[in-house]
Amino acid sequence: MMSRDRPPPLAALASSLSDGESFLAAVAGPFRRAIRVHPRRGTPSGWGTMVQVPWSPSGLFTSDDADPGDFLDHHLGTIYAQDAASQLPVVLLDPQPGETVIDVCAAPGSKSTQIGLALGDEGLLVCCDASPPRRRVLSENLARQGVASAVVTPMPVHILAQRHPGCADAVLVDAPCSGHEQRSSKQVERMAQRQLELLEQASRLVRPCGRLVYSTCTPYVEEDEQVVAAFLASHPGWAAEACVAPGCDGDLRGAGGIRLWPQRQGSEAFFAARLRALDGDAVQCVSLNGIVPPAGVELSAWLPHTGLMCWRRGNAVFAGTAQAASCALPSEARGLLLGHGEGERFRLEPWSAQALIERGAAAVVVSHADAIRLWAGEELDLPIARPALARTASGGPLGELAGASGRWRLDIPSRMRRTGLR
Ligand SMILES: C[S@@+](CC[C@H](N)C(=O)[O-])C[C@H]1O[C@@H](n2cnc3c(N)ncnc32)[C@H](O)[C@@H]1O
Repeated sequence: MMSRDRPPPLAALASSLSDGESFLAAVAGPFRRAIRVHPRRGTPSGWGTMVQVPWSPSGLFTSDDADPGDFLDHHLGTIYAQDAASQLPVVLLDPQPGETVIDVCAAPGSKSTQIGLALGDEGLLVCCDASPPRRRVLSENLARQGVASAVVTPMPVHILAQRHPGCADAVLVDAPCSGHEQRSSKQVERMAQRQLELLEQASRLVRPCGRLVYSTCTPYVEEDEQVVAAFLASHPGWAAEACVAPGCDGDLRGAGGIRLWPQRQGSEAFFAARLRALDGDAVQCVSLNGIVPPAGVELSAWLPHTGLMCWRRGNAVFAGTAQAASCALPSEARGLLLGHGEGERFRLEPWSAQALIERGAAAVVVSHADAIRLWAGEELDLPIARPALARTASGGPLGELAGASGRWRLDIPSRMRRTGLR
């Protein structure tokens, strides 16, 4: 039971803020709607006025009545619906092509897809999550965004850290948290303990001089500034870095972290801090390099120039970065599953058709209006002679057109069909 003379944690936090009443009124939302734009899938169209998210170069605030699922851009992966605050941690992590990055609480994948797109077609992204059903959604979201560098592993974080200490250039801990729910002090304390354990396990994955971003979508100081302070107090080999990002507030302790507030930035309440492993500790780093699969398959059938590796397992064909192909971890998803079969009987997966188009595979151009009709399942009379990949005029990758002369339909499963898109 909470003591009678102690205010519940949210009220206590509000009383410490100059705009505490506005905070309490805004903390449960609704928040400003935002999207993140894919770097290689064209320009979003038909959204009306959008406003740049100050701290996220690929982030845009949309109008509040724009539901992303109603837009073709969402289905073509041209955009990813993501709260503006949730885009901040990856901006602070700043993944670079060629790096090894681990996202330890990755599902459903908003930040993993953002990391994967920052890596491009070089490097390795390892995605962990404790929840198998959430990992399935994560794998699909990575596929839908065409991320070729990712390995989704069921390996628990503490085992990964035991077997491969110091293997990562950068690690993200987007921790489970209390969100904006009203919680008792006891509940918040328990959550903070869990977060501290995860942070400690994750820190062992970082190489000397590497970086770690810790973030939550809760305003509770106990789960934010206090977790980072407790970690630093018991880990002298680590330091907090001073972060600045346009339009953001500093943390509540002046310790270099960042805060976003619903009553100020209009996003959900958010905390992020960047920590650096100092060079002093002698960490024995064990890399994630494993066996390189025999190439076996030529990606050049679709793409003349790509740095991706292509390999076959049974009748399934995959493409991915060399690091993802050879990563030593057990995996539930790895690179892009291109499709199944051989030669003429080879069937391309819809998400991979989009990923190939995005990477420059030859594709016919259809109008936005025709693309909407094709996505709804209509057959169209198009001026093409044989099955082909298709994209929209604004660069959105549509998929593969199948059929016969004069009548062409988009080859996607019925569960993906949508009518009335904009
Ligand atoms: C805040 S959500 C992550 C959101 C995700 N980063 C995104 O941007 O889409 C926290 C995640 O942590 C996962 N989780 C909880 N405990 C965990 C643990 N011990 N190890 C790994 N993942 C854990 C949960 O299943 C949940 O998916």
